[in-house]
Amino acid sequence: MRKVAVVGMGHVGATVAHYLVSGGFTDELALYDTNQAKVEADALDLRDAMANLPFHTVLTVNDDSQLRDCDVVVSALGKSKLVDTPDHDRFAEFKFTRTQVPLVAKKLVDNGFHGMLVDVTNPCDVITSMYQKLTGLPKNHVMGTGTLLDSARMRACVGDALHVDSRSVVGFNLGEHGNSQFTAWSTVRVLGKRVLDLAKERNLDLADLEERARQGGYMVYKGKKYTNYGVATAAVRLTNALLSDARTEMPVSNYREEYGTYLSYPAVVGRDGVMEQLHLDLTPAEEEKLRTSANYIKDRLKKEEARSLAAEAEN
Ligand SMILES: NC(=O)c1ccc[n+]([C@@H]2O[C@H](COP(=O)([O-])OP(=O)(O)OC[C@H]3O[C@@H](n4cnc5c(N)ncnc54)[C@H](O)[C@@H]3O)[C@@H](O)[C@H]2O)c1
Repeated sequence: MRKVAVVGMGHVGATVAHYLVSGGFTDELALYDTNQAKVEADALDLRDAMANLPFHTVLTVNDDSQLRDCDVVVSALGKSKLVDTPDHDRFAEFKFTRTQVPLVAKKLVDNGFHGMLVDVTNPCDVITSMYQKLTGLPKNHVMGTGTLLDSARMRACVGDALHVDSRSVVGFNLGEHGNSQFTAWSTVRVLGKRVLDLAKERNLDLADLEERARQGGYMVYKGKKYTNYGVATAAVRLTNALLSDARTEMPVSNYREEYGTYLSYPAVVGRDGVMEQLHLDLTPAEEEKLRTSANYIKDRLKKEEARSLAAEAEN
């Protein structure tokens, strides 16, 4: 029996839940939200979908006892309207998410959860780290979707430019799921070639493609004030890799000792979480960008914590 929980049934959580149910990816699905009416309504709506689906999924709502034997918990709680800032800074949500994550982590610990934790909640790398510290789960059992989404955006931009399916583009965006991420072009391959070589042949403006991938989230957010399909698909892909012991190589937020933080770097993901960490042959310039991104995550966390503590002391 496969059992998944989704904590936070907003735009992202509800889309994750629907994809899990419609894909028949889990036998049991435990749904949680502080907004009882919303999560109950979603469960009813999903139940109504099931009569026309080839799969049955057992649904529960806000039942903490379900957490004990969940294989995977997906954290999608948040308040995404806080990210409505000119620079689409994911840290804008931290003042809210930093207060909620400890409550959820305590619930997980109190109910004996010992499975895999997938974080979507922003700021993704920092929240993933918080979950790991607060739950005491092994570092390789706690992951963030990280740049799995940003890499998909980059692959889509490159695919569009070359008129090929994004699945035919391989390669990674690395670092923070945020503005300090970058595309490691040395890892990107398409049409049997390194994109760095193809770029000259086909007149590709890689800097422009990279910026479009980085701004991809903002472009979607600008139109509807949230993003859901891209990230939910990334979260479910990661969940499925965990459930099925797929041992798939994917760029997720995982703890890298040499950078002293969670950040996105490809890892092999299977039943035991992050089962192997890759070591890419990055160029010196890419290495430098990764270090800068790692330092940004660490510095920003320190600053935001100090700011939040000062604000709490004032109140
Ligand atoms: N990592 C990524 O790539 C990525 C992409 C898109 C969105 N996100 C993040 O995902 C999160 C969810 O986004 P959204 O658009 O669905 O937000 P949303 O504001 O639509 O919904 C958040 C939901 O979380 C619930 N919630 C809040 N605190 C909770 C708690 N303690 N326990 C249970 N539920 C709780 C709220 O009631 C709400 O229903 C945000 O942090 C957002 O920034 C991440």
